[in-house]
Amino acid sequence: MNERFQATWLDLREAADHQARAPELLESLSAWVAGKSSLRVLDLGAGTGSNLRFLAPHLNVPQHWTLLDHDPDLLVQARPPEAGCPVQWELVRCDLAQWREQAEASRPDLVTASALIDLVSESWLESLASGCAQLGAAVHIVLSYDGTVRWSDPDPLDDEILATVNAHQERDKGLGSALGPRATQRLVHLLDACGYRVRTAASPWVLASGSAPLAEHLIAGWVQAASEQNPARSDEYRDWGARRMSNLMSGRTKIRVGHMDLVALPESSR
Ligand SMILES: C[S@@+](CC[C@H](N)C(=O)[O-])C[C@H]1O[C@@H](n2cnc3c(N)ncnc32)[C@H](O)[C@@H]1O
Repeated sequence: MNERFQATWLDLREAADHQARAPELLESLSAWVAGKSSLRVLDLGAGTGSNLRFLAPHLNVPQHWTLLDHDPDLLVQARPPEAGCPVQWELVRCDLAQWREQAEASRPDLVTASALIDLVSESWLESLASGCAQLGAAVHIVLSYDGTVRWSDPDPLDDEILATVNAHQERDKGLGSALGPRATQRLVHLLDACGYRVRTAASPWVLASGSAPLAEHLIAGWVQAASEQNPARSDEYRDWGARRMSNLMSGRTKIRVGHMDLVALPESSR
């Protein structure tokens, strides 16, 4: 199955994504970039360019970005960072299965991806780690779902929903069985074995009634995923979704959705 993402969903999550990103990893990356006169960046699964809009203004050198995605409807809606951040950028329609050919053409110093690696398989992640090592590129992979969701006011069905949604996460999204919440830890191991210095940090979303449109989409997505995974329980899951939305709107509930960020610097840059 090839999962498609709507631009409206990417727009909804952009502010929460930007707020969530781990500042300490950004500092390491900025310090590494500060020694360079320019930077070539390859953004995998770039969508409409949220990662570019966040990261480029934090990297204080002239940059050239390649935004790679297989979905032309998203790429056509890509937008640059705010004025005052001079970057060159190009759009490349390409499947992630062929990312290495594109990387060999664009020779990036930095390979990055946001909200992507929980969708990919073990073998694709192996190709990411070994491909980046061959290029000598730094790696910055952010906002990978870590399988945790915490509610400020527990509901008896929360644990079942979470386990069912996490099982659904491991379905094939187009590149083989997805790693889902295990992806960051696998990538740490793979990059470490390739000689990288790797750091991770939490980058959770914290959502309350003020983030209602995003939370509403999220809850609806969880109900749908859980119902696909276990259709016999879909009525209970739908009722859970209605309870969760009503608690959220009343201001009683906060949700913490766990993500991880990762930065890996080539050993030679020590
Ligand atoms: C959750 S979205 C994240 C988009 C963007 N990085 C962001 O943070 O807003 C995942 C992105 O990966 C892209 N994608 C998924 N599978 C892909 C594949 N096999 N080849 C290329 N792009 C893919 C989707 O089109 C989508 O843009």
